[in-house]
Amino acid sequence: MKQTVVTFQEAKQKQEKITMLTAYDYSTARLMEEAGIHSLLVGDSLGMVMLGYEDTLSVTMEDMLHHCKAVARGAKEALVVCDMPFLSYQTSVYDAVVNAGRLVKEGHAGAVKLEGGQEVCPQIKAIVQASIPVMGHLGLTPQSVHALGGFKVQGKTEEAAKKLLEDAKCVEEAGAFAMVLECVPAKLAELVSKSISIPTIGIGAGNGCDGQVLVYQDMLGMYRDFVPKFVKKFGNVGDEMKAAFHEYIAQVQSGQFPAPEHTFAIGDDVLKKLY
Ligand code: KIV
Repeated sequence: MKQTVVTFQEAKQKQEKITMLTAYDYSTARLMEEAGIHSLLVGDSLGMVMLGYEDTLSVTMEDMLHHCKAVARGAKEALVVCDMPFLSYQTSVYDAVVNAGRLVKEGHAGAVKLEGGQEVCPQIKAIVQASIPVMGHLGLTPQSVHALGGFKVQGKTEEAAKKLLEDAKCVEEAGAFAMVLECVPAKLAELVSKSISIPTIGIGAGNGCDGQVLVYQDMLGMYRDFVPKFVKKFGNVGDEMKAAFHEYIAQVQSGQFPAPEHTFAIGDDVLKKLY
């Protein structure tokens, strides 16, 4: 079934969990689709897991467009949500609408995601008014890593928890169709999820959220620079890839690969004429 902002809303009403994974390329998007995922997030985490940066701040609009186009080509039913990169929306409402528009027009995203609470609500409102669905992102907002003093759990004090709840209501009122809650204590995430009518998608926020998202390299054991506590490994693809790479190297060096069945023949009569 084609996933849309409407099916997200229906899922929350029916208390059916929404599934989302990050995707950055065509073939992975196809595999996730075939598995029945509801939504693919072209996250700016691509800066870390695909491009090798230390954080997400260096990611550009061109990076996002490049990967979003590939994912959109692979997604027939899943809702493709594309992250707005750092400084593509914080600078002004105008920039936010223009850049969100590019992600939809050129990147073929079905929705955009941006980080922040009250301070970005004017941007959310304006993008939604331009008929582009917006997913919010609260809690640990990686684009604010320097302001937050690192990748840390958010909303642990009374003041911070109140602010998170207020921000969630503000993002909902601004017109967002869903929001990510990242690295938020489970009980607070559950309270937020019950206090708003749009779905919450948790990452490191417990199972009281309306859906879950993970970075696929984390859940497959492919990215080992830093593995957050909230990650569960659903596969050991990293180890399998390494073993296959070792085997390939060994077989090329020993001459075992390529074997006759991997090669193309030429007639002896043709070959003779070349000598
Ligand atoms: O960029 C990303 O992958 C994200 C998820 C962590 C939610 O924003």
